[in-house]
Amino acid sequence: MKHRREIFMLFGDPVEGSLSPPMFNAAFRRLGMNSIYIAVKTPPQFLAAAVAMMRGLGVKGANITIPHKVAIMGYLDKLDKSAKDVEAVNVVANVNGKLVGYNTDGTGALAALEAGGGPVRGKRVVVVGAGGAARAIVHSLVTAGADVCVANRTIEKAKVLAEIVERKTGKSVKVIPLEKKLLKDAIAKADILINATSVGMQPKAGQTIATADMLHPGLIVNDIVYKPLKTRLLKEAEKAGAKTVDGLGMLVNQAALAFKIWTKKEPPVEVMREAAERAMEAGR
Ligand code: ATR
Repeated sequence: MKHRREIFMLFGDPVEGSLSPPMFNAAFRRLGMNSIYIAVKTPPQFLAAAVAMMRGLGVKGANITIPHKVAIMGYLDKLDKSAKDVEAVNVVANVNGKLVGYNTDGTGALAALEAGGGPVRGKRVVVVGAGGAARAIVHSLVTAGADVCVANRTIEKAKVLAEIVERKTGKSVKVIPLEKKLLKDAIAKADILINATSVGMQPKAGQTIATADMLHPGLIVNDIVYKPLKTRLLKEAEKAGAKTVDGLGMLVNQAALAFKIWTKKEPPVEVMREAAERAMEAGR
């Protein structure tokens, strides 16, 4: 007997060009499930309606993206520790009518980074950026035992991020303003550099947070930007002889973790990555 078709959704605005539908639908196909994943453009005034629809129609799970990751928390029945830790939700699971919020952004980023560059425990990491993505990543890094320095254009935002992570983890986070000389000195002492800003994203692919002269061989450079896949920063890293980890890994891993939360099945991570790459090549 065929299983009842389960429906999963992405709520965000914009959602055009999202790689999540091809990733999840490829995973469902691979595992022989007849579930379906649909991206739903959800303006802020319709977030409440989207949540009501989830409950009323029995939508099994949803991904939450910009601009709803914080606002969604007010509509849920329960928050998992992963969501409480970063005070943001990117995954909602409908468990027998109760909506539970999770956050897989930080753990997904860490899984991708460690898959490409090895364990972060005891490593010195410079994270550029202090937005929502940076907060999830820094929390995961610190929890995993890395020694983290945050550099941000707006220093006050970096201080707030450090305070939040310190309050949640009991471990300290260093903060510097995003100035070339200071960043260069911090990178010189670091094992890993992560760009957690949107700098270098299409259509401004010419921009970078650091140039080759600021990097060194032995450094691992990770960009969360994946459009383009090889960003200017990753090109500069190659020039400097540093190892690179592209941004698609984070996207794929946060999705794979969501898949596991919803279905309790082992996600076909490679199938998901290939589907994302194919969708990007097709100009999605
Ligand atoms: P997200 O939730 O995706 O992290 P965000 O909260 O808007 O997005 O954060 C964007 C990050 O990119 C911030 O750290 C921002 O720096 P500010 O805090 O100073 O705004 C950073 N950022 C964006 N454009 C930048 C630029 N041109 N130069 C340096 N940093 C930039």
